[in-house]
Amino acid sequence: MKLPTKKRFPENFLWGSASAAYQVEGAYTADGKGASIWDRYVSLGDVTYKGSHGQVAVDHYHRYKEDIALMAEMGLKAYRFSIAWTRILPMGRGAENAAGIAFYHSLIDELHQYDIEPIITIYHWDLPQALQDEYGGWESRQIITDFDHYARILYREYGTKVKYWVSMNEQNVFVTHGYSLGVHPPGIKDRLRSFRANHIVNIANATIIASFRDLVPDGKIGPSLAYSPFYAQTSHPDDIIALETAQDYLTYWYMDIYCRGRYPQSILNILEKLQIDLAIEATDEAVLRAGKPDFLGINYYQSLTVAHNPLDGVVMGGMNTSGKKGTSKEQGIPGLFKIVQNQYLTHTDWDWTIDADGLYVGIKRLTSRYQLPILISENGLGAIDVLDADGKIHDSYRIDYLKAHIIAVGRAIEDGSDVLGYCSWSFTDLLSWLNGYQKRYGFVYIDRDETDDRTLNRYKKDSFSWYQSVIRSNGSNL
Ligand code: BG6
Repeated sequence: MKLPTKKRFPENFLWGSASAAYQVEGAYTADGKGASIWDRYVSLGDVTYKGSHGQVAVDHYHRYKEDIALMAEMGLKAYRFSIAWTRILPMGRGAENAAGIAFYHSLIDELHQYDIEPIITIYHWDLPQALQDEYGGWESRQIITDFDHYARILYREYGTKVKYWVSMNEQNVFVTHGYSLGVHPPGIKDRLRSFRANHIVNIANATIIASFRDLVPDGKIGPSLAYSPFYAQTSHPDDIIALETAQDYLTYWYMDIYCRGRYPQSILNILEKLQIDLAIEATDEAVLRAGKPDFLGINYYQSLTVAHNPLDGVVMGGMNTSGKKGTSKEQGIPGLFKIVQNQYLTHTDWDWTIDADGLYVGIKRLTSRYQLPILISENGLGAIDVLDADGKIHDSYRIDYLKAHIIAVGRAIEDGSDVLGYCSWSFTDLLSWLNGYQKRYGFVYIDRDETDDRTLNRYKKDSFSWYQSVIRSNGSNL
């Protein structure tokens, strides 16, 4: 038997970076843009770190040429960005906004000018407020038609220019945070409504993938999930069962429906006991079957370790949004599992574990389960960076983090996983939804903070030239 030759990163590997409209664009009312649920939510006050919001963000809307010139200087191969639904359709449906459509044409054309592959995210959490007001957004099946209409406009406009598309960003985060934990808009805390909204999102996702097949036949599309592979705290069978349950509940609940068109039975059994009826309709199965993805997008930041959680155990919630290490609370679902500290790992200032091996393990697990190509659509380190008096930012900790994770991706490829590309989060610093501007992720520092827009000048961090050399050497120079 001939063993396959070891390969690290393929020739056309997409060395990229990612962002999202609300987190970078600003210009929140410019050129006919409508209000999104995030624009409204942050105006309620005290729902984000120091009341931070995206009204100006890092002003990418006006400075995209400067930002793309920096991407070109770095040699970036791909840029993943999201489209603000409210720029295309300010009221969510109805009249199209020509200026908004033109903006993304210019952005895409600018990327092409430097041979940077655009990757479009269709939905990255900024639902038009008008649809929330009219029928409750993702809680109503009316959104399926409106989301499909919006996606079809994007396919019509950009379908010949853009090959890679992410249908939905982190459904697992925006649904649980928005409908169950109540810390994202629309700020609801209701388990039944959360499960039902999630099912509607699944149908909407499958619907726009089916439309994509008709309108962008040569393109590739897939959803991106926040993915944390799980470890069991001990080999005690109770902890192993907690691991299995957490995996089904927090990961496969979303991925199985995307890739297999059905929910894990173990979780359906739990929902039955809890008398949670998903309100599935007769036609849903066919829609899900017709809407399978070409690849799975993975947003990987950390692994999670789980243990048995008794019926009177801890509940979900208690995130650290301040950057003060050790302020997050132990959380879980009573009777199912709880997330615990892993003594072998270190943590960021926001208490996220730092675990490159988790990415290796995760890619391998997903390859075994779904046999689909994987796009690392986000990976990065949120940290407090310091701009020196000489305009330098020495972020060796970010280089260490990214280096270890890229090595992990390379190992997974060597082991046979098909990985299309790696998008760091993020290219420039940007707004972190709940954590303000102090949680920085970029290769490019931006002079602003939560309360002051400052100069918004761009400064290259040390990690900028490091990633430049990684890309130039196709991942050999780490
Ligand atoms: C993902 C999102 O959850 O992780 C991004 O897709 C987000 O939009 C990123 O910014 C990092 O999370 P946070 O909470 O540190 O901003």
